[in-house]
Order: sequence, then C-alpha cells, then structure tokens
Amino acid sequence: MKKDIYILGIETSCDDTSISIVKNGTEVLSNVVWNQNKTHEKFGGIVPELGARRHLQVINFVLEEALHDAEISLQEISAIAVNNQKGLIRSLVVGVSAAKALAFSLNIPIISVHHIEGHIYSNILSHKNLDFPHLCLTVSGGHNLLVIVNNHFNYEVIGNTLDDAAGEIFDKVARHLGLGFPGGPVIDKLSKEGDSKKYNFARPMLDQENFDFSFSGLKTEATRVYEKVRNNQDFKLEDFVASFQQAVVDTLIGKSFKALKHYNLNTISIVGGVSANNKLREDFLKYSLKYGYQVYFPEMKLTTDNAAMIASVGYFKFINQQFDSLNLEVFTNNPL
Ligand code: KG4
Ligand code: ZN
Repeated sequence: MKKDIYILGIETSCDDTSISIVKNGTEVLSNVVWNQNKTHEKFGGIVPELGARRHLQVINFVLEEALHDAEISLQEISAIAVNNQKGLIRSLVVGVSAAKALAFSLNIPIISVHHIEGHIYSNILSHKNLDFPHLCLTVSGGHNLLVIVNNHFNYEVIGNTLDDAAGEIFDKVARHLGLGFPGGPVIDKLSKEGDSKKYNFARPMLDQENFDFSFSGLKTEATRVYEKVRNNQDFKLEDFVASFQQAVVDTLIGKSFKALKHYNLNTISIVGGVSANNKLREDFLKYSLKYGYQVYFPEMKLTTDNAAMIASVGYFKFINQQFDSLNLEVFTNNPL
C-alpha cells in the first residue's frame, strides 16, 4: 500500500500567519490562519515592521493549533513546504526560519514554494477535475497576473500589471473613502446595494492587444471623481463603489476572455484575494456559461493567503523529489 504523505505548509508573506497540514496533496487536515487585520487597520495598510513582529509572536501558537486540528504529531510530517519567494522580506524570514528549524530538527526535507504558485494550486486543491492546460488569473493585493498553467510547475506568464494590482486599488480607494482595511470585502458588500451604472469609470487597457493590466489610473480617477461628487445631493456611496467595482471586474474579465480566445483555451481558474469578490464570481460565471468556458474558483477560505495552498504545491514537489537545502533564501518578488 502507498504511504500517505503529510506536508506541513507555512505562509507568512504579508499579514497572515498560516500553517496547514495537507495529506496527499489535496486533503486539508488543518489550515490555521492568524489574521493581522486588527494590527494594521488603524494605519489603513500593512506596516511591514509590525507585521513581522506579529508573525514572530504568534507562529508557535499557529503551529500548535495546526497540529492539534489535524490530529497529527510532528513526527508524522513528511516534509516542510514554505513560501520564500514573494512577500515582505521581514515577514518571509519568520516563516522560512521556522521551516528551517522544523526541517532540521525533524530531519525531513524542506521545499520552497512561490507564493503565486501557491495561489494557482489553491484551485487545483479545491477541484480535482481542474485539468491542464488552463488559464489562471491570479488577482490579489500584491499580484495581478494571467498565467497559462501547462502542467505541474510549467507556467507561462502572458500578462502582468504595469503598476497596481486590482486588490491594491480596492484597498487604496477604500482608504480614501474612509472604509477601513482591507478594502475589497467592504466594497464588495456595499456594492450589493448600489447601482453599478451610476458612474462610468474607465476599463483600462481593454482595447489593447496584450494581456497586461494597469490599475493605477483607475484608482486616481476614482479618488478624483469621488472628491467631485461626494457632496452632491443624490450621492450614494453604494452607487459609487458599485460603479468602481464594476470597472475592475469588467477589466479583469475582458482581458481574461481575450486571452482564452487568443490561446485557444477553454478553462479558466481565478485565484487570490480578489477571487472572493461576489460580483467577479457572478459575472465570470455568467459569461463563461454564455461563451462555453469552464470556470473555477477556490473555496472562499482558500482565496486569501493561506498555507494549505503552499502545502499542496509541496506535495507535488515532494513526489517529484524537488527538495531544497537548508540554506534557502528569501525573495521579495522572484519571477514565477
Ligand atoms: O491573496 P491575498 O490575501 O494577499 C495577497 O497576496 O495580496 O489578497 C488580499 C487582497 C486585498 O487587497 C483585499 O482587499 C482583496 O484581496 N480582497 C477582495 C475581497 N476579499 C479580499 N477584493 C475584492 N472583493 C473581495 N471580496
Ligand atoms: Zn496572496
């Protein structure tokens, strides 16, 4: 009988301390996420120094909880997988140091994982029938890519953002509007009560024959229009954010469908924090049905940063014997 493989994943790229145990690549035994929103919300964004300190304070609790939830002991773990390739350096150092200590003391392999690769696998983990090749839109606060996933670990990046990521402008516009941090979930919720046709924002770069994005102009436009209309008698915040959200959604969908057509692909996977957005999900599903594409979203709890996605990548690398050395480094923004 084949031996079960248990990977312990660690993710500390930004403001979530997460440790997860995944069995055989797709069975999530535990996925503990210690969210730092409370630490950062009063600043309207992430303070890297505070983030790293918080990771250090809580990582041992998160580890204990992850083992407890999975009902497993450290001695049963097959390997440690850790994101070391995208994020805030000081935050990454906490996760990678913990991974090194565990791998060394347990005498098991350490496996390096790229954060975006993790997001791509959040859908492979959620849907066993998600086949290769497929197009993946990775969209969050820190990245906004279109990637053709040809096979395991075979990625072709066909589009990137030239400036801000979609999640980043949700956060920045929300901050300007005094809606707190992170902005995406608040805008998502408020938009349900708003008229998305009230304000006509640009759909940046949709008319261009490439698969890149540029959201910083839309952010500037939104803040400028807000200052102009906020004191109007008929101004409703819900209409404003719904119109802004619709511009982001239309742009992400427009570019993705262009890429599907151009590369003759029929499956799209949407991952990352912004893939939690209700309007994005609704519209992607609507148009995919209309044009005959297969569309996949991760389970809600796997959309934002989590270690289950890191552990899942770790499993597929483990069975390929793709191990790393304990001299593993950290990178702010390694190419995928
Ligand atoms: O994947 P993630 O946790 O971290 C990064 O890798 O950046 O994504 C966080 C981002 C934030 O910008 C947040 O505002 C956005 O995802 N987000 C959303 C929603 N939930 C989270 N954006 C739009 N709608 C949502 N429901
Ligand atoms: Zn992320």
